[in-house]
Amino acid sequence: MSKKIILDVDTGSDDAVAIMAAILSPDIQLEAICSVVGNKDLDKTTENTLRVVELMGADVPVYRGCRTPFAKWLSSDHIVPDRRECKAKDGDKVIMIHEDYLDIPAASIKEQEIRAVEFYVKYLREASEPVTIVAVGPLTNVAAALLVDETIVDKIEEIVIMGGGYNITNTTPSAEFNIWQDPEAAQRVIHCGAKVTIVPLDATHAACITLDDCKRFREIGTVSGNFAAELCEQRIFVHNAAQPLDVPDAAAVHDALCIAYLIDPTVLKDVRHAHVDIGFRDYSEGQTIVDCRYYTEDKNCYYAFDGDRFKFADILCDLFARDLKRR
Ligand code: RIB
Ligand code: CA
Repeated sequence: MSKKIILDVDTGSDDAVAIMAAILSPDIQLEAICSVVGNKDLDKTTENTLRVVELMGADVPVYRGCRTPFAKWLSSDHIVPDRRECKAKDGDKVIMIHEDYLDIPAASIKEQEIRAVEFYVKYLREASEPVTIVAVGPLTNVAAALLVDETIVDKIEEIVIMGGGYNITNTTPSAEFNIWQDPEAAQRVIHCGAKVTIVPLDATHAACITLDDCKRFREIGTVSGNFAAELCEQRIFVHNAAQPLDVPDAAAVHDALCIAYLIDPTVLKDVRHAHVDIGFRDYSEGQTIVDCRYYTEDKNCYYAFDGDRFKFADILCDLFARDLKRR
């Protein structure tokens, strides 16, 4: 029985791998994709999402989400300097971990008429069975939908969030990007009452993809395998320069790990049930504050402290091999 999911993305390079994986998996019924501001502005994240859906020839509706975060940007005291520099020089060329537009044909398909938050509320109110939300960008859309109608939580089987970091951060010394981009939204979502599984940088950096894995992806000979290899090689180039991992010539492909978790939950390791809050101010802005103390009550999240890179790469290879579009 395949699992119904809604994917919430700020398409970028790793979001694109996650979208392809979700489309290809027989274990997943991808009901819809919602775009949100994050890696890039909303127009770019929406266009990039449409490009991937069209590349895959998939019949999946795309809904345009929120253009700005809940509260951030409304006042200057919210903003801690963003010292994230996910780019690298290749001669005179600057390679970004997320280019403005994915290097695939511009989309000819269009997003749906209604916006993402309206879709979430309508879909969940009418759903006859629960759905899993996989949020791999800032949580603005999901939080806004819960604000419009908190009862939709009864139709949510699980919220899988790519976000946060315990021993690893990327945007400030205490924060990971998705959470930092909209901390108020994140706090609202992780306390909404649904089962919440957080896939933080601790897991995504452990479950990294290597150049050898990219070679395996290319050898499969499909459109998705080749495109994923291009995206991951780009990410490896930047990681080597800006955020080298313990494994040489490797990159975190954060968002796709959330899809792999739905296919084989054992791809996440050292998953702890904990109380998690989000920091809002000063140097805790966007921090995932994880309380793993034994006697802690109100454990609202499952938090993965590790990941299995070998299982992750095998899952992706299996998915890309299912792609009927060969290059
Ligand atoms: O910090 C990594 C996360 O931020 C990933 O989801 C990436 O796509 C960006 O959204
Ligand atoms: Ca993302």
